[in-house]
Amino acid sequence: MRITSDGGHLPLGDNKGSAWYGRHILKVGQFTRGDVDCVHGVAAEMQEMVKRTGGCDLLKGKILANMFYEPSTRTSCSFMAAMQRLGGQVIPINEAKSSSVAKGESIADTAITLGCYADVMVIRNPEVGSADEAAASAGIPVLNAGDGVGEHPTQALLDTFTMRQELGRLDGLTVTLVGDLKNGRTVHSLARLLTRFDGVKLNYVAPESLRMPQEVVDEVAAAGVPQNTFEQPDQVIAGTDVLYVTRIQKERFATPEEYEQVKGVFVISPETLEGAKDDMIVMHPLPRVNEIAIEVDADPRAAYFRQMEYGMYVRMALLALVLGKA
Ligand code: NCD
Repeated sequence: MRITSDGGHLPLGDNKGSAWYGRHILKVGQFTRGDVDCVHGVAAEMQEMVKRTGGCDLLKGKILANMFYEPSTRTSCSFMAAMQRLGGQVIPINEAKSSSVAKGESIADTAITLGCYADVMVIRNPEVGSADEAAASAGIPVLNAGDGVGEHPTQALLDTFTMRQELGRLDGLTVTLVGDLKNGRTVHSLARLLTRFDGVKLNYVAPESLRMPQEVVDEVAAAGVPQNTFEQPDQVIAGTDVLYVTRIQKERFATPEEYEQVKGVFVISPETLEGAKDDMIVMHPLPRVNEIAIEVDADPRAAYFRQMEYGMYVRMALLALVLGKA
């Protein structure tokens, strides 16, 4: 992308030669460090452009099919805002029950349908692998916005962008992941993506029953990243650069009783942060239920609301890249 000083952009055709053109975004395993740097570089340009002019017409004439088969506020709205700030348009499909999925249509057929109307598709679905299924038949780039307990790659890109913008680096960070590490797709993607950076250390704080899946632990270990498990956030807070807190994923529990046993197990409070560094940040993919006390919001280290805004810039970057405009 080449944005001019008045917020317009130099006329460019689709950059079909770009490695990003037409690419699906399905899991973080597909990204090299260079890819992450590239997305973050374009996201930083988007941030500047939005601050300067609010938007541009880079994606004018392009349509995004935004298909959410699970609840969402941030991911869905930030993709819509991203597309609209770049001059594109959106077909929002928010309720599977109002689409033909309710009549028994497969993901593959729905994806073929949307591929006829739109240029790019975002999908959130409770089934692991659903985005891959859509990608196999859509004929347009498919961006995975969360496939059940699987992955959430665009969130990991925005989480790492947040760390980079807030702390100035990704290398050498000690990142402590807290909460439901078993069912939280954001932490599955984030732990994997952080292995692309040098000297990163991961700490896990989760109830016994909600530990990080072995598959993720093995992948992270194979990349040579140290991983340590703790019982309580207090045990690791002093050495933490990023405290990444997650919600206990109530909807993934087999019975309400199982959820009740772990609900509210960790609550980050101003007292928790007393032992933390001045230049650390607290992140959360949101929504928060009660894992972070609202008193923490006033602490400058609380980065979770800023994180949402960074998300829009990253999604603008991804849409521009896969549509060959960046
Ligand atoms: C997360 C998700 O949907 O996985 N939210 C988000 O995308 N920002 C986290 C969650 O639901 O707890």
